[in-house]
Amino acid sequence: MSARPATRVRVPGDKSISHRALICAALASGRSRIRNILPSADVHSTAGVLRALGADVPSLTNDVRIGGRGLGGLAATAESLDCGNSGTTARLMSGVLSAHPFASRLVGDASLSRRPMGRVARPLTTMGARFAFEHGEHLPMVITGGPLDSIAFSSPTASAQVKSAILFAGLVARVPVSVTEPVRSRDHTERMLSALGVDVRSLGSEASLEPASELAAFQLDVPADPSSAAFLAGLAAAGGVGDGASLELTDVALNPTRLGFFRVLRDMGADVSWETEREECGEPVGTISVAPRGLHAVHIREEQVPAMIDELPLLACLAAVADGETEIRGASELRVKESDRIAAVVQNLRAVGAHAEELSDGLRVRGAGRSLGGAVQAHGDHRLAMAFGVLGALSGNSIGVDDRECVSVSYPGFWTDLARVTS
Ligand code: S3P
Repeated sequence: MSARPATRVRVPGDKSISHRALICAALASGRSRIRNILPSADVHSTAGVLRALGADVPSLTNDVRIGGRGLGGLAATAESLDCGNSGTTARLMSGVLSAHPFASRLVGDASLSRRPMGRVARPLTTMGARFAFEHGEHLPMVITGGPLDSIAFSSPTASAQVKSAILFAGLVARVPVSVTEPVRSRDHTERMLSALGVDVRSLGSEASLEPASELAAFQLDVPADPSSAAFLAGLAAAGGVGDGASLELTDVALNPTRLGFFRVLRDMGADVSWETEREECGEPVGTISVAPRGLHAVHIREEQVPAMIDELPLLACLAAVADGETEIRGASELRVKESDRIAAVVQNLRAVGAHAEELSDGLRVRGAGRSLGGAVQAHGDHRLAMAFGVLGALSGNSIGVDDRECVSVSYPGFWTDLARVTS
Protein backbone atom coordinates (compact mmCIF):
# COMPACT_ATOMS: atom_id res chain seq x y z
CA MET A 1 0.00 0.00 0.00
CA SER A 2 1.54 3.35 -1.02
CA ALA A 3 1.38 6.32 1.39
CA ARG A 4 -0.93 9.15 0.29
CA PRO A 5 0.95 12.29 -0.78
CA ALA A 6 0.75 15.07 1.82
CA THR A 7 -1.49 18.08 1.12
CA ARG A 8 0.69 21.20 0.69
CA VAL A 9 -0.42 24.72 1.64
CA ARG A 10 1.33 28.10 1.75
CA VAL A 11 -0.67 30.27 4.16
CA PRO A 12 -0.49 34.10 3.79
CA GLY A 13 2.41 36.26 4.98
CA ASP A 14 3.29 36.74 8.63
CA LYS A 15 1.30 39.53 10.28
CA SER A 16 3.96 40.57 12.82
CA ILE A 17 6.70 40.69 10.18
CA SER A 18 4.42 42.56 7.73
CA HIS A 19 3.72 45.35 10.26
CA ARG A 20 7.40 45.70 11.11
CA ALA A 21 8.47 45.65 7.46
CA LEU A 22 6.11 48.54 6.67
CA ILE A 23 7.29 50.58 9.65
CA CYS A 24 10.97 49.95 8.93
CA ALA A 25 10.46 50.79 5.22
CA ALA A 26 8.74 54.07 6.16
CA LEU A 27 11.66 54.96 8.47
CA ALA A 28 14.36 53.89 5.99
CA SER A 29 16.32 56.13 3.64
CA GLY A 30 15.32 55.22 0.08
CA ARG A 31 12.96 52.75 -1.55
CA SER A 32 12.33 49.32 -0.03
CA ARG A 33 10.72 46.34 -1.77
CA ILE A 34 8.47 43.94 0.14
CA ARG A 35 7.13 40.80 -1.47
CA ASN A 36 4.28 38.63 -0.13
CA ILE A 37 3.21 41.14 2.50
CA LEU A 38 0.01 40.05 4.29
CA PRO A 39 -2.85 42.06 2.74
CA SER A 40 -5.08 41.74 5.84
CA ALA A 41 -7.14 44.37 7.66
CA ASP A 42 -4.57 44.81 10.45
CA VAL A 43 -1.70 45.38 8.02
CA HIS A 44 -3.87 47.78 5.99
CA SER A 45 -4.26 49.76 9.24
CA THR A 46 -0.49 50.16 9.62
CA ALA A 47 -0.16 51.08 5.93
CA GLY A 48 -2.92 53.70 6.27
CA VAL A 49 -1.35 55.26 9.36
CA LEU A 50 2.08 55.49 7.69
CA ARG A 51 0.49 56.96 4.55
CA ALA A 52 -1.26 59.64 6.64
CA LEU A 53 2.15 60.48 8.14
CA GLY A 54 3.64 61.12 4.69
CA ALA A 55 5.28 57.79 3.82
CA ASP A 56 4.90 56.67 0.20
CA VAL A 57 2.99 53.41 0.75
CA PRO A 58 1.05 52.20 -2.31
CA SER A 59 -1.84 49.74 -2.00
CA LEU A 60 -0.68 46.39 -0.70
CA THR A 61 0.01 43.98 -3.55
CA ASN A 62 2.35 40.99 -3.42
CA ASP A 63 5.24 43.14 -4.69
CA VAL A 64 5.13 46.57 -3.09
CA ARG A 65 7.75 49.37 -3.17
CA ILE A 66 7.76 51.85 -0.32
CA GLY A 67 9.41 55.26 -0.23
CA GLY A 68 10.90 55.86 3.22
CA ARG A 69 11.07 59.26 4.96
CA GLY A 70 14.27 58.54 6.89
CA LEU A 71 14.62 58.19 10.67
CA GLY A 72 12.47 60.87 12.31
CA GLY A 73 11.14 62.06 8.93
CA LEU A 74 7.42 61.33 9.32
CA ALA A 75 5.20 64.40 8.95
CA ALA A 76 2.49 65.73 11.28
CA THR A 77 -1.12 65.29 10.27
CA ALA A 78 -4.34 66.79 11.65
CA GLU A 79 -6.12 63.57 10.63
CA SER A 80 -6.82 60.98 13.38
CA LEU A 81 -4.70 57.90 12.78
CA ASP A 82 -7.05 54.93 12.49
CA CYS A 83 -5.51 51.74 13.91
CA GLY A 84 -8.72 49.74 13.24
CA ASN A 85 -8.65 46.44 15.18
CA SER A 86 -4.86 46.33 15.35
CA GLY A 87 -3.06 46.44 18.71
CA THR A 88 0.26 46.05 16.92
CA THR A 89 -0.38 49.20 14.85
CA ALA A 90 -1.40 51.26 17.90
CA ARG A 91 1.44 50.12 20.15
CA LEU A 92 4.34 50.02 17.68
CA MET A 93 3.32 53.38 16.19
CA SER A 94 3.13 54.81 19.74
CA GLY A 95 6.86 54.20 20.01
CA VAL A 96 7.59 55.69 16.59
CA LEU A 97 5.41 58.77 17.20
CA SER A 98 6.84 59.38 20.68
CA ALA A 99 10.10 60.33 18.98
CA HIS A 100 8.55 62.72 16.41
CA PRO A 101 8.16 66.38 17.51
CA PHE A 102 4.44 66.78 16.93
CA ALA A 103 1.05 65.68 18.26
CA SER A 104 -0.81 62.68 16.76
CA ARG A 105 -4.25 61.34 17.69
CA LEU A 106 -4.66 57.55 17.51
CA VAL A 107 -8.12 55.96 17.29
CA GLY A 108 -9.37 52.40 16.81
CA ASP A 109 -12.50 50.25 16.55
CA ALA A 110 -14.64 49.30 19.57
CA SER A 111 -12.49 46.26 20.43
CA LEU A 112 -9.16 48.12 20.22
CA SER A 113 -10.64 51.02 22.21
CA ARG A 114 -11.13 48.61 25.14
CA ARG A 115 -7.52 47.34 25.14
CA PRO A 116 -4.86 48.70 27.53
CA MET A 117 -2.55 51.42 26.23
CA GLY A 118 -1.04 52.37 29.62
CA ARG A 119 1.49 49.56 29.10
CA VAL A 120 3.15 51.58 26.30
CA ALA A 121 2.27 55.04 27.62
CA ARG A 122 4.11 54.50 30.93
CA PRO A 123 7.62 53.71 29.62
CA LEU A 124 7.30 56.15 26.70
CA THR A 125 6.24 58.91 29.15
CA THR A 126 9.31 58.09 31.26
CA MET A 127 11.39 58.60 28.12
CA GLY A 128 9.84 62.07 27.61
CA ALA A 129 6.74 61.68 25.40
CA ARG A 130 3.32 62.99 26.51
CA PHE A 131 0.14 60.89 26.35
CA ALA A 132 -3.35 62.34 26.77
CA PHE A 133 -6.30 59.93 27.04
CA GLU A 134 -9.93 60.86 26.57
CA HIS A 135 -11.10 58.08 28.94
CA GLY A 136 -9.09 55.57 30.97
CA GLU A 137 -5.83 54.40 29.44
CA HIS A 138 -7.53 53.55 26.15
CA LEU A 139 -7.81 54.91 22.63
CA PRO A 140 -8.45 57.60 21.54
CA MET A 141 -5.14 59.02 22.72
CA VAL A 142 -3.00 61.96 21.69
CA ILE A 143 0.77 61.44 21.72
CA THR A 144 3.05 64.47 21.72
CA GLY A 145 6.54 63.38 20.85
CA GLY A 146 9.94 65.02 20.90
CA PRO A 147 13.51 64.34 22.00
CA LEU A 148 13.60 61.28 24.27
CA ASP A 149 15.80 60.03 27.09
CA SER A 150 17.33 56.60 27.21
CA ILE A 151 15.51 53.91 29.25
CA ALA A 152 16.28 50.53 30.81
CA PHE A 153 12.74 49.23 31.19
CA SER A 154 11.69 46.21 33.20
CA SER A 155 8.36 45.22 31.65
CA PRO A 156 5.80 43.60 33.96
CA THR A 157 4.30 41.73 30.96
CA ALA A 158 5.88 39.60 28.25
CA SER A 159 4.71 41.69 25.30
CA ALA A 160 6.44 42.09 21.96
CA GLN A 161 4.28 45.11 21.27
CA VAL A 162 5.55 46.93 24.38
CA LYS A 163 9.14 45.85 23.73
CA SER A 164 8.94 46.93 20.08
CA ALA A 165 7.39 50.31 20.96
CA ILE A 166 10.43 51.07 23.11
CA LEU A 167 12.93 49.75 20.56
CA PHE A 168 11.33 51.91 17.82
CA ALA A 169 11.26 54.94 20.13
CA GLY A 170 15.00 54.48 20.85
CA LEU A 171 15.76 53.95 17.16
CA VAL A 172 13.98 57.11 15.97
CA ALA A 173 15.14 59.28 18.91
CA ARG A 174 18.67 57.89 18.55
CA VAL A 175 19.04 56.95 22.23
CA PRO A 176 20.09 53.60 23.69
CA VAL A 177 17.23 51.55 25.19
CA SER A 178 16.82 48.16 26.82
CA VAL A 179 13.76 46.10 27.79
CA THR A 180 13.68 43.11 30.12
CA GLU A 181 10.60 40.86 30.13
CA PRO A 182 9.43 38.14 32.55
CA VAL A 183 9.61 35.68 29.62
CA ARG A 184 11.02 36.49 26.19
CA SER A 185 8.30 37.49 23.69
CA ARG A 186 8.50 37.23 19.89
CA ASP A 187 11.68 38.90 18.66
CA HIS A 188 10.87 39.99 15.09
CA THR A 189 11.75 43.64 15.71
CA GLU A 190 15.17 42.71 17.06
CA ARG A 191 15.85 40.34 14.15
CA MET A 192 14.69 42.80 11.47
CA LEU A 193 16.58 45.80 12.85
CA SER A 194 19.69 43.71 13.34
CA ALA A 195 19.48 42.42 9.73
CA LEU A 196 19.24 46.08 8.63
CA GLY A 197 22.51 46.89 10.40
CA VAL A 198 21.26 48.32 13.71
CA ASP A 199 23.15 47.23 16.82
CA VAL A 200 20.39 45.29 18.60
CA ARG A 201 21.26 42.57 21.09
CA SER A 202 19.20 39.89 22.82
CA LEU A 203 20.45 38.23 25.94
CA GLY A 204 17.96 35.92 27.66
CA SER A 205 14.81 37.98 28.06
CA GLU A 206 16.60 41.34 27.62
CA ALA A 207 16.69 43.21 24.31
CA SER A 208 18.83 46.33 23.87
CA LEU A 209 19.40 48.78 21.04
CA GLU A 210 22.23 51.23 20.39
CA PRO A 211 21.60 54.39 18.32
CA ALA A 212 22.00 54.15 14.53
CA SER A 213 22.52 57.09 12.16
CA GLU A 214 20.04 55.78 9.59
CA LEU A 215 18.08 52.73 8.46
CA ALA A 216 19.04 51.45 5.02
CA ALA A 217 16.33 50.60 2.47
CA PHE A 218 15.89 46.83 2.09
CA GLN A 219 14.27 43.94 0.22
CA LEU A 220 12.18 41.34 2.02
CA ASP A 221 10.09 38.34 1.01
CA VAL A 222 7.64 37.92 3.92
CA PRO A 223 7.44 34.26 5.01
CA ALA A 224 4.09 32.60 5.80
CA ASP A 225 2.54 33.21 9.22
CA PRO A 226 3.02 30.37 11.74
CA SER A 227 -0.08 31.56 13.64
CA SER A 228 -2.20 31.11 10.50
CA ALA A 229 -0.44 27.82 9.70
CA ALA A 230 -1.34 26.65 13.22
CA PHE A 231 -5.05 26.41 12.36
CA LEU A 232 -4.46 24.03 9.48
CA ALA A 233 -1.79 22.15 11.47
CA GLY A 234 -4.27 21.66 14.33
CA LEU A 235 -6.87 20.39 11.88
CA ALA A 236 -4.37 17.91 10.39
CA ALA A 237 -3.18 16.75 13.82
CA ALA A 238 -6.77 15.94 14.78
CA GLY A 239 -7.30 13.97 11.56
CA GLY A 240 -9.36 16.61 9.75
CA VAL A 241 -7.33 16.88 6.53
CA GLY A 242 -8.77 14.62 3.80
CA ASP A 243 -9.20 11.12 5.24
CA GLY A 244 -6.57 11.61 7.91
CA ALA A 245 -3.93 12.75 5.42
CA SER A 246 -0.77 14.55 6.47
CA LEU A 247 -0.14 18.22 5.72
CA GLU A 248 2.91 20.24 4.67
CA LEU A 249 2.87 23.93 5.43
CA THR A 250 5.47 25.58 3.24
CA ASP A 251 7.59 28.75 3.49
CA VAL A 252 6.62 29.36 7.13
CA ALA A 253 8.51 31.69 9.49
CA LEU A 254 10.19 29.25 11.91
CA ASN A 255 11.22 31.79 14.54
CA PRO A 256 11.49 29.79 17.81
CA THR A 257 9.60 32.54 19.70
CA ARG A 258 6.54 31.67 17.55
CA LEU A 259 6.65 27.85 17.54
CA GLY A 260 5.23 27.07 20.98
CA PHE A 261 1.98 25.68 19.57
CA PHE A 262 3.81 23.24 17.29
CA ARG A 263 5.95 22.01 20.20
CA VAL A 264 2.80 21.46 22.28
CA LEU A 265 1.00 19.71 19.42
CA ARG A 266 3.91 17.27 19.45
CA ASP A 267 3.54 16.88 23.24
CA MET A 268 -0.14 16.05 22.61
CA GLY A 269 0.96 13.09 20.51
CA ALA A 270 0.80 14.47 16.95
CA ASP A 271 3.59 13.76 14.50
CA VAL A 272 4.97 17.30 13.91
CA SER A 273 8.34 18.32 12.48
CA TRP A 274 9.87 21.35 10.79
CA GLU A 275 12.92 22.05 8.73
CA THR A 276 14.63 25.36 7.94
CA GLU A 277 15.26 25.96 4.24
CA ARG A 278 16.31 29.61 4.03
CA GLU A 279 16.80 32.76 6.06
CA GLU A 280 14.95 36.01 5.41
CA CYS A 281 15.85 39.24 7.21
CA GLY A 282 17.19 37.26 10.19
CA GLU A 283 14.20 34.86 10.27
CA PRO A 284 14.54 31.10 9.66
CA VAL A 285 11.97 29.95 7.06
CA GLY A 286 10.93 26.42 6.06
CA THR A 287 8.32 23.65 6.01
CA ILE A 288 6.21 22.30 8.88
CA SER A 289 4.89 18.74 8.43
CA VAL A 290 1.98 17.37 10.47
CA ALA A 291 0.48 13.87 10.50
CA PRO A 292 -2.51 12.86 12.64
CA ARG A 293 -2.29 10.72 15.77
CA GLY A 294 -4.72 10.39 18.66
CA LEU A 295 -4.34 13.62 20.69
CA HIS A 296 -4.07 13.63 24.47
CA ALA A 297 -4.33 16.40 27.07
CA VAL A 298 -1.46 18.74 28.05
CA HIS A 299 -0.70 21.23 30.82
CA ILE A 300 0.53 24.66 29.71
CA ARG A 301 2.60 26.77 32.12
CA GLU A 302 3.32 30.50 32.15
CA GLU A 303 6.79 30.16 30.56
CA GLN A 304 5.23 28.46 27.51
CA VAL A 305 2.56 31.10 26.95
CA PRO A 306 4.36 33.93 25.03
CA ALA A 307 5.53 31.60 22.23
CA MET A 308 1.93 30.45 21.63
CA ILE A 309 -0.17 33.35 22.93
CA ASP A 310 -2.27 33.70 19.76
CA GLU A 311 -2.74 29.93 19.41
CA LEU A 312 -4.28 29.31 22.85
CA PRO A 313 -7.93 29.54 21.65
CA LEU A 314 -7.09 26.91 19.01
CA LEU A 315 -5.35 24.73 21.59
CA ALA A 316 -8.44 24.92 23.83
CA CYS A 317 -10.61 23.79 20.90
CA LEU A 318 -8.27 20.86 20.16
CA ALA A 319 -8.34 19.95 23.87
CA ALA A 320 -12.10 19.40 23.46
CA VAL A 321 -11.36 16.48 21.10
CA ALA A 322 -8.28 15.15 22.96
CA ASP A 323 -8.21 12.44 25.64
CA GLY A 324 -8.06 13.78 29.20
CA GLU A 325 -8.13 17.20 30.81
CA THR A 326 -6.02 20.07 29.45
CA GLU A 327 -5.10 22.99 31.69
CA ILE A 328 -3.74 26.36 30.53
CA ARG A 329 -2.32 28.63 33.29
CA GLY A 330 -0.35 31.89 33.39
CA ALA A 331 -2.31 33.22 30.41
CA SER A 332 -4.21 36.20 31.86
CA GLU A 333 -2.99 38.26 28.85
CA LEU A 334 -5.73 36.44 26.93
CA ARG A 335 -8.26 38.63 28.71
CA VAL A 336 -6.96 41.79 26.97
CA LYS A 337 -6.72 40.52 23.39
CA GLU A 338 -9.25 41.31 20.62
CA SER A 339 -11.84 39.83 23.02
CA ASP A 340 -11.60 38.34 26.53
CA ARG A 341 -10.42 35.08 25.05
CA ILE A 342 -10.66 33.11 28.32
CA ALA A 343 -14.34 33.96 28.88
CA ALA A 344 -15.27 33.73 25.19
CA VAL A 345 -13.56 30.37 24.56
CA VAL A 346 -15.12 28.78 27.66
CA GLN A 347 -18.58 30.16 26.84
CA ASN A 348 -18.37 28.88 23.25
CA LEU A 349 -16.96 25.46 24.16
CA ARG A 350 -19.90 24.99 26.52
CA ALA A 351 -22.30 26.18 23.82
CA VAL A 352 -21.18 23.31 21.56
CA GLY A 353 -21.39 20.70 24.33
CA ALA A 354 -17.76 20.53 25.54
CA HIS A 355 -16.64 20.60 29.18
CA ALA A 356 -14.77 23.83 29.91
CA GLU A 357 -14.01 25.79 33.06
CA GLU A 358 -12.82 29.39 33.36
CA LEU A 359 -9.83 30.16 35.63
CA SER A 360 -8.61 33.66 36.46
CA ASP A 361 -5.43 33.11 34.42
CA GLY A 362 -6.47 30.38 32.02
CA LEU A 363 -8.89 27.52 31.52
CA ARG A 364 -9.51 23.79 31.81
CA VAL A 365 -11.00 21.73 29.01
CA ARG A 366 -11.93 18.04 29.16
CA GLY A 367 -12.08 15.98 25.97
CA ALA A 368 -15.75 15.46 25.09
CA GLY A 369 -15.42 12.00 23.53
CA ARG A 370 -18.46 12.70 21.31
CA SER A 371 -19.61 14.97 18.50
CA LEU A 372 -19.84 18.69 19.22
CA GLY A 373 -22.41 21.03 17.73
CA GLY A 374 -24.10 24.39 18.10
CA ALA A 375 -23.69 28.09 17.42
CA VAL A 376 -20.70 30.13 18.64
CA GLN A 377 -20.11 33.86 18.94
CA ALA A 378 -16.76 35.10 17.64
CA HIS A 379 -17.12 38.48 19.39
CA GLY A 380 -15.57 39.95 16.22
CA ASP A 381 -12.32 38.14 17.16
CA HIS A 382 -10.55 36.55 14.18
CA ARG A 383 -8.74 33.91 16.20
CA LEU A 384 -11.94 32.72 17.89
CA ALA A 385 -13.72 32.44 14.53
CA MET A 386 -10.86 30.35 13.09
CA ALA A 387 -10.38 28.15 16.19
CA PHE A 388 -14.07 27.18 16.19
CA GLY A 389 -13.97 26.89 12.38
CA VAL A 390 -11.33 24.16 12.82
CA LEU A 391 -13.30 22.42 15.57
CA GLY A 392 -16.41 22.49 13.38
CA ALA A 393 -14.50 21.04 10.41
CA LEU A 394 -13.60 17.87 12.32
CA SER A 395 -15.60 14.82 11.34
CA GLY A 396 -18.90 14.49 13.23
CA ASN A 397 -18.93 18.09 14.50
CA SER A 398 -21.25 20.83 13.26
CA ILE A 399 -20.54 24.38 14.47
CA GLY A 400 -21.90 27.67 13.17
CA VAL A 401 -19.74 30.80 13.66
CA ASP A 402 -21.75 34.05 13.79
CA ASP A 403 -19.12 36.35 12.24
CA ARG A 404 -17.06 34.59 9.58
CA GLU A 405 -15.82 37.80 7.95
CA CYS A 406 -13.70 38.86 10.94
CA VAL A 407 -10.96 36.40 9.83
CA SER A 408 -9.90 39.14 7.37
CA VAL A 409 -7.98 40.75 10.25
CA SER A 410 -5.18 38.18 9.85
CA TYR A 411 -6.11 35.44 7.33
CA PRO A 412 -8.42 36.69 4.57
CA GLY A 413 -8.66 33.36 2.66
CA PHE A 414 -9.12 31.19 5.76
CA TRP A 415 -12.52 29.65 4.97
CA THR A 416 -11.48 28.79 1.42
CA ASP A 417 -8.23 27.15 2.59
CA LEU A 418 -10.09 25.29 5.35
CA ALA A 419 -12.65 23.91 2.88
CA ARG A 420 -9.88 22.94 0.43
CA VAL A 421 -7.82 20.92 2.91
CA THR A 422 -10.82 19.36 4.65
CA SER A 423 -12.42 17.84 1.53
C1 S3P B 1 2.23 40.84 18.38
C2 S3P B 1 2.44 40.55 19.68
C3 S3P B 1 1.47 39.83 20.54
C4 S3P B 1 0.43 39.11 19.72
C5 S3P B 1 -0.10 39.95 18.61
C6 S3P B 1 1.01 40.40 17.67
C7 S3P B 1 3.26 41.58 17.63
O1 S3P B 1 0.84 40.76 21.38
O2 S3P B 1 -0.62 38.66 20.54
O3 S3P B 1 -1.06 39.21 17.85
O4 S3P B 1 3.24 41.59 16.38
O5 S3P B 1 4.14 42.17 18.28
P1 S3P B 1 1.51 41.19 22.80
O6 S3P B 1 2.83 41.78 22.48
O7 S3P B 1 0.61 42.20 23.41
O8 S3P B 1 1.57 39.92 23.57
